[in-house]
Amino acid sequence: MTVNAIQTRRTDPYSPPAEHLELQGDEPVAFLDWRDGRKAWAITKHADVRTMLSDVRFSSDRSYPDHPAHGGYVPGAHKGAIIAIDPPEHSAIRSRVMNEFTVKKISLMRPRIEEIVAEALDAMLDGKSEAELVKELSLPVPAMAIAELLGVPYEDHEFFEHNTAIFADSSHTDPSQRVEAIGKLRDYISKLVDARMDARGNDILSRQLDAGLDAEEAVGLGFLLLIAGHETTANMISLSIMTLLDKPDLLQQLRDDPSLIPGAVEELLRYFTIAEVGGLRLATTDLEIGGKRIHAGDAVYGLTNTANRDPEVFPDPHTIDFKRGARNHMAFGFGPHQCLGQNLARLELVVVLEQVIQRVPTLRLLDPISAIAFKEWGPNYGISELRVAW
Ligand code: HEM
Repeated sequence: MTVNAIQTRRTDPYSPPAEHLELQGDEPVAFLDWRDGRKAWAITKHADVRTMLSDVRFSSDRSYPDHPAHGGYVPGAHKGAIIAIDPPEHSAIRSRVMNEFTVKKISLMRPRIEEIVAEALDAMLDGKSEAELVKELSLPVPAMAIAELLGVPYEDHEFFEHNTAIFADSSHTDPSQRVEAIGKLRDYISKLVDARMDARGNDILSRQLDAGLDAEEAVGLGFLLLIAGHETTANMISLSIMTLLDKPDLLQQLRDDPSLIPGAVEELLRYFTIAEVGGLRLATTDLEIGGKRIHAGDAVYGLTNTANRDPEVFPDPHTIDFKRGARNHMAFGFGPHQCLGQNLARLELVVVLEQVIQRVPTLRLLDPISAIAFKEWGPNYGISELRVAW
């Protein structure tokens, strides 16, 4: 097959698009049709994607009107939203907020995360024999954790989950609906920041305001943490549980030896690499990558999901191997924008798998994989609904 366009839709639930895997073999840096009549560079080899994501001349700054991750830019809206800005502003904010998400700090949250997962499971199991897992487990766990860290009242979870879902579902919503959802979430965080300006609380935004963040930056950061902090992890929880229930030999390995769970989480992160738009950048100058000349103003797409199946780095890449030791995957990106919340996401995933495996030994899928509603179009790959029984 000759590949002419970047096809971001996944058709096999367990694989990146076949066209991308083919590109990795045939033309690892390729200038192809992409979307809205535009072309972009598709980069599919692990080493090239790493090089690209490490180099800040490939910009994340959404105030470039042509930035490929643009998605409805509102002037000023990205102030403080570190995913969407470049150094030096990026580094100044990131280096401070990073203290909140170190391995050490997050490991102290284990008892609370265990409680959150236990409560969600209690509610899910209570007097019932089946449930929709996304609503009852995958979303509540990360949503409650990030709400607590930010000082967002969890009672508002339906509001922020609903608007994040609109923003994150390009399969079923149009750009104007997404811009409206962003506006509502920003207004909501704005009110929260206003309240923190009057009276600080015991939360990340209060501490960042104390450390010198201005109110506008706090809104951008709070907005980003709220949306990045729950929908992504929820998708990984659902995909991980689906995989274990669909592939009983994998589940059995974790039952026999729960110490494999952290390695399983890492391998599932690599295998699914859900953040479809994590590697979108705009070239700010002419430069070369993988032997190809990229020009200033070109859109560049580091396809981390395909790079994470690169056989030169991950032998037998399409096999799920819990003992692989896949720490050099790029499911959390790479370089200066590498995921700030990765330690929290890992902890949540580990605790969910520990408790599900231990507490619900009869858990099973109610639908065949072919009938499951996947989020095929991104920006994050995942599952909209997952019916399970026990
Ligand atoms: C399994 C769950 C998650 C996945 C797969 C994921 C993936 C990613 C990826 C790929 C990036 C890099 C984007 C880029 O280079 O443009 C990123 C950045 C980011 N993520 Fe996550 N993420 C997850 C969970 C979280 C959580 C729980 C939080 C917050 C608590 C979070 C907060 C952020 C932030 C703030 C950034 C921007 C960092 C920067 O630009 O310096 N993420 N994430």
